[in-house]
Amino acid sequence: MASTMHSIMIFCFILWSLYKGSLSAVQFNVISISSVVAALGSDVLLPCHLIPEMNAEKMEIRWFKPMYRPYVHLYINGKDDYTAQMPQFAQRTELLKENITRGIFPLKIRNVTAEDSGEYYCFVESSDHHGKAAVQLQVTGK
Ligand SMILES: *[C@@H]1O[C@H](CO)[C@@H](O)[C@H](O)[C@H]1NC(C)=O
Ligand SMILES: *[C@@H]1O[C@H](CO)[C@@H](O)[C@H](O)[C@H]1NC(C)=O
Repeated sequence: MASTMHSIMIFCFILWSLYKGSLSAVQFNVISISSVVAALGSDVLLPCHLIPEMNAEKMEIRWFKPMYRPYVHLYINGKDDYTAQMPQFAQRTELLKENITRGIFPLKIRNVTAEDSGEYYCFVESSDHHGKAAVQLQVTGK
């Protein structure tokens, strides 16, 4: 009887450990800020980072507006992929990767136009979790 109780306790402890491990290993929240204002023709940084802090080098990072594809910017398999980028953003986007190992990867958009205004989404996907954050870009005239 005592040994049955003991086995049950060990079994429960293993289940709990697996559950706790699976939660802490993969979950994250994607964070940006609600809005950014930029003057026409200037360069702007759209923030995006992960909480908790974790390495995003192997994750997919997709900036889009308003559709998933064509996208504003895509980083996948460790590199930038411009194959289905919105023509409007050609040669103007850069994902800043300096702090990507800490989960920080803002998007730089150069020479913003009035058409760039609107809602952007930063979508991040790992092998087993995903999340997204929205940020509003407001471009003001001269
Ligand atoms: C990276 O982090 C450092 C230190 O916090 C900061 O000074 C720098 O501006 C960051 N770079 C980017 C591109 O976020
Ligand atoms: C910025 O964009 C405008 C029109 O969208 C273009 O005429 C101008 O040459 C661009 N400037 C730079 C520095 O790329």
